[in-house]
Amino acid sequence: MTEITFPAGFLWGTATAAHQVEGGNVYNDNWVMEHTPGGPNVESSGDACDHYHRYRDDLTLLADLGFNTYRFSLEWSRIEPEDGEFSLAALDHYRRVLAACHEHGLTPIVTFHHFTSPRWLAAAGGWEAADTPERFGRFCARATAHLGDLMGYACTMNEVNIGPLIASFGAPAMRGFRAAAWYAAAARSVGSDPARFTPFLYATSERGCETILAAHRCAVQAIKAGPGQCAVGLTLAMEDIQAVAGGEEAAARLRRTLQDVYLEAVRGDDFIGVQTYTRRRCAAAGLLGPEAGVELTQMGYEFWPEALGATIRYASAMTGLPVIVTENGIGTGDDTRRLAYIERALRGVAACLRDGLDVRGYTYWSAMDNFEWALGFRPTFGLIAVDRQTQARTVKPSARWLGKVARENRL
Ligand code: BGC
Repeated sequence: MTEITFPAGFLWGTATAAHQVEGGNVYNDNWVMEHTPGGPNVESSGDACDHYHRYRDDLTLLADLGFNTYRFSLEWSRIEPEDGEFSLAALDHYRRVLAACHEHGLTPIVTFHHFTSPRWLAAAGGWEAADTPERFGRFCARATAHLGDLMGYACTMNEVNIGPLIASFGAPAMRGFRAAAWYAAAARSVGSDPARFTPFLYATSERGCETILAAHRCAVQAIKAGPGQCAVGLTLAMEDIQAVAGGEEAAARLRRTLQDVYLEAVRGDDFIGVQTYTRRRCAAAGLLGPEAGVELTQMGYEFWPEALGATIRYASAMTGLPVIVTENGIGTGDDTRRLAYIERALRGVAACLRDGLDVRGYTYWSAMDNFEWALGFRPTFGLIAVDRQTQARTVKPSARWLGKVARENRL
C-alpha cells in the first residue's frame, strides 16, 4: 500500500472523559443514575481508572508512545460542587494536568462538558432549563480564568446531539423514560422530580437541543474572553447515514435532525470536532439493522471504518470549518481488529487531506479501557488495558502501532 505523509503539525492523540477515567466522581448526575436500581446502568463507575491520581503516569505513557496531543474533560461537578461554589483545589488539579501535558509535549484539547453535570444542575432542570446556558457560561468563564493560558484547543461540549441520537435508534432506556420508576427515583435522589430532572443524555426534546446550543454560545463567549487564545468548537456524534432501497428522504430527514441543525449552528466557530464510530443504513420504511455478514463490534455496531472519511467530508462541506477528529475508535477484545479499524479509518482521513480538506488532527477513543457509560467496563475501546483490581496499565500492540504512525507522521 502506498505510504501517506500527514501535514506538519498534525495532531495525533487519544481521548478520555473525566467521568469515564477519573474515578470517584460522586457529585454528578450520572453517578446518581448508576446507583439507582432498575436503571439502565450495569455497574458503578467507582474508581474508574483512577486517572485523577495517575494522570501523570498516563501522560508519560502516551507521550512515550509517540503522541503529541491529549484530549480530556473537566469535571464540572468537581469544580462547582454546589451552585456558584467553586473549588480552587479542583481547578488547581486541572492546572497540574495541563502543565503535565505541556511538559510531555502533548497539546491539550480540553472538553468543558462530557455528558456529566453537577447534581444541583440536573435537579434544577438540567439541560431543559432556561438558566442552564448562563450557568454553563459562568462555569466556563471561571475555568478559563484559571486554566485558559494552558489550553491548546477547547471543546465546549461533547456530542451535543447525543440525546436525540440515542433516542433515534430506539434505545430501550430512552423509551418513555420520564414515566419510568427508576428515573423518578433518580430524580428524587437529587431532590427533584421526573418532570424536571434532565441529565445531558436525556435532553432529547427540541427544548433540550435549543438549551444545549444556547449553552454552547455562552461557553464560546466565555472561553474567548480569555486568558489564552485557544481555538474553540464543539463535538458532534456523527454516523455515516447511508440511504438504501429508496431511503433517500428518510436519510435526509435523519441527517437534518441529528447533524444539520448542529452543523448549521456552529458556523463561526474555529473548528468542528467529528466523532465517528460506524455507519447507519436508512430505508424508506425506516432504519435498518446491521447488514448481514458485516462484522460487529462489542457495541453491536457494524465494523465500518470508512464512516470516518464520509463524516469528515459531510461536516467540512456543511460548515466550511477545519475538522479535528476528536473521537474515532472501536470496542473490541481483539486488538488486531482495532489496528485494522484504525488503519482503514486513517486512510479515509488521508484521502480527505489529499482532496484538500482541512483536517487538523486525529484523537483515538480511547487512551485506555474505561467506563463505557450504561455498559460499564465491558466494552474495551482502549489502546491501553487497565487491570480492574490493580489499576496496572498494559500497552496493547495497536497503541505501539498508532504511536509510531504519530511519531513518524506517516502511515
Ligand atoms: C462518547 C464517549 C464514549 C464513546 C464510545 C462517544 O459517544 O463521547 O464518551 O465512550 O462514544 O461509545
